Amino acid sequence: MRKPRRFTPEELAPFQWQMPLTRRSGAWGVGAKPAEGTESAPPPTAATIDWAALFGNANPVEVEVGMGKGLFLLNSATGRPDTNFFGIEIVRKYQLYATSRFAVRELTNAKTVCADAGWVFQKFVTTGSVSAVHVYFPDPWWKARHKKRRVFSPRFAAEAARITRVGGRLLIATDVEEYFGVMTGIVRSMPAYRELGSETSTGSLEQAGYQTNFERKARQKGTPVCRAQFERTAGPVTVATDPAS
Ligand SMILES: C[S@@+](CC[C@H](N)C(=O)[O-])C[C@H]1O[C@@H](n2cnc3c(N)ncnc32)[C@H](O)[C@@H]1O
Repeated sequence: MRKPRRFTPEELAPFQWQMPLTRRSGAWGVGAKPAEGTESAPPPTAATIDWAALFGNANPVEVEVGMGKGLFLLNSATGRPDTNFFGIEIVRKYQLYATSRFAVRELTNAKTVCADAGWVFQKFVTTGSVSAVHVYFPDPWWKARHKKRRVFSPRFAAEAARITRVGGRLLIATDVEEYFGVMTGIVRSMPAYRELGSETSTGSLEQAGYQTNFERKARQKGTPVCRAQFERTAGPVTVATDPAS
């Protein structure tokens, strides 16, 4: 991994959200209570994220889950200055890498946190407060016994629906066809979402371009890229049947 410019923690601070210290009981997604309706929603408290305070404006907020090196957020934040972007990445070195890219360009509309995205949604994001959730090339966890580690579970999708305002979007992409089937299967069964479209494309880098580092790799290899977009309806938030069970 090419080393980005080194910043001190103080220099990176404006580009990160400092997660309050909370006790985490049990692993996300394992034996935890599902997010039905607004039942599990955190009421606004000192611990929940106040987007307007964090970004210093009331612009809409879009969240990317597992932003890796942050290419999608970098281009989005640069090209759409009237939207705020929040990246959640579980691996510290990638979160720092992405954050450093935002710091180099002094982007005020891009911020990150190093944490499990499902946990952040559940504990810190208030209902209907974001306008889009992006999930691009999530780790496939190939082995059957590891599949429960996948970020995109029925409960995760329910939390994504809960935090998204009516009319907002869920956007997903992957080069793992089986995982795409699982994700779309979950979302299609939820009344809180309406499908706007999906496609599988084998376009080369030159033909199709790329939004993220993993999409670039897939296009270079000629692996088909699957993509779907959903709109948040006014329907209730439900937890789909777990395809892994
Ligand atoms: C295959 S990479 C894709 C990175 C980027 N989205 C792209 O398309 O280039 C998946 C990323 O998701 C992160 N990730 C995996 N599980 C996560 C979770 N539960 N919460 C946040 N990030 C997660 C991984 O650390 C990794 O950086």
